[in-house]
Amino acid sequence: MTQDKTKNWDQYGEYLALDTLLDIQKPWSADKATGAFAHDEMLFIIFHQTYELWFKQILFELDDVQMRLGRPVVDDCDMQPIVKHLHRVVEILRLLVRQLDILETMTPQDFTDFRDHLKTASGFQSLQFRLIETRLGLRREDRLLFNHCQYDAGYCPASQTAINTAEHETTLFDQIDKWLARTPFVDRDDYKFWDSYRAAVHTMLDGREAMARHAVDGDILDRELAAIARNRTKFDSIFNKDADTSSSPSSSWRLSWRALQAALFITVYKTEPALQGPASLLGHIMDIDAAMSQWRYRHALMVQRMVGMNVGTGGSAGYGYLMQTLEKHRIFTDLFALSTYLIPSHARPPLPQTISNQMGYRYGTTG
Ligand code: HEM
Repeated sequence: MTQDKTKNWDQYGEYLALDTLLDIQKPWSADKATGAFAHDEMLFIIFHQTYELWFKQILFELDDVQMRLGRPVVDDCDMQPIVKHLHRVVEILRLLVRQLDILETMTPQDFTDFRDHLKTASGFQSLQFRLIETRLGLRREDRLLFNHCQYDAGYCPASQTAINTAEHETTLFDQIDKWLARTPFVDRDDYKFWDSYRAAVHTMLDGREAMARHAVDGDILDRELAAIARNRTKFDSIFNKDADTSSSPSSSWRLSWRALQAALFITVYKTEPALQGPASLLGHIMDIDAAMSQWRYRHALMVQRMVGMNVGTGGSAGYGYLMQTLEKHRIFTDLFALSTYLIPSHARPPLPQTISNQMGYRYGTTG
């Protein structure tokens, strides 16, 4: 049997299915007679294909993270893989943002040379991107209306079904909410984080008020006291269960009240050994939200550079639509908003010794 000497992929090529992978770049601007195509369309295709591969990897990591977080009890041993896989998602997303530098070596004129050949094909129809958003927790009702009237412009029936299925499954947001709400130590008979934090906040604000009264008077004092009063109201809004949580219809929070308390508890005491894993997990979730936003912003700017104020090939308003998704499609903003309620470390209430002992691993020397 003769071997094809033009192909020397050997097992490397077979393992990676390179024959298939390297044969799937088919520019639509190719001339039927000569095969010649717009030079930059090759970059455009490879670019989108690499994105789709990375999207596949992100979904694969989310499968694992969601499987572990979906268990009734999240074992300590699960924390390391959860944190590791979320971190990987963060780094992939950051790469996808940086990668746009390469696409921007294509000029708007280069893009115009083949744009019409794309017909109605648009990144908006990327099923995997939509699934990532949905799996993370972007709800249909929170989505910006595409084309002023539709959520699902241009998806084929199979994609529609996959999206509908994902929308009915438990999202990462829901899992994080439930996992936070189960955090031990926060609300016990012998210790209530909320009471201790509220007392510390009042002590801190009372101290500021006393200092202001001692140091200044007149208009300056009035302004200081007004600022302290605003601070008290701000803190009261989170301490009061009925004031502003997801259980209240007027709420600006999406996380449940117990989850919010736990997230603040983890953030405040993040150096305690038992809270280091959970604090890393929350940090990666915020990084994912931030990297998605950075991608949206960079993509929108690139779209404006390439097509100006033209409508998109998928039929949206283009740049205008994409810039609005930047704010509207964020998912974990509650975790960012919690920073409003941090207090300086010196004012932080110390943990009772019993709680601290239970959260730490202490190894002494023997002999
Ligand atoms: C020259 C380069 C690009 C242009 C001009 C462009 C243009 C657009 C436009 C105008 C939209 C809005 C929907 C529409 O009306 O079509 C859109 C959406 C989208 N594009 Fe791109 N795009 C480019 C590159 C990319 C790349 C490399 C990706 C990576 C997969 C991508 C992924 C997406 C996604 C996921 C959406 C949906 C965003 C959302 O609805 O929030 N695009 N694009």
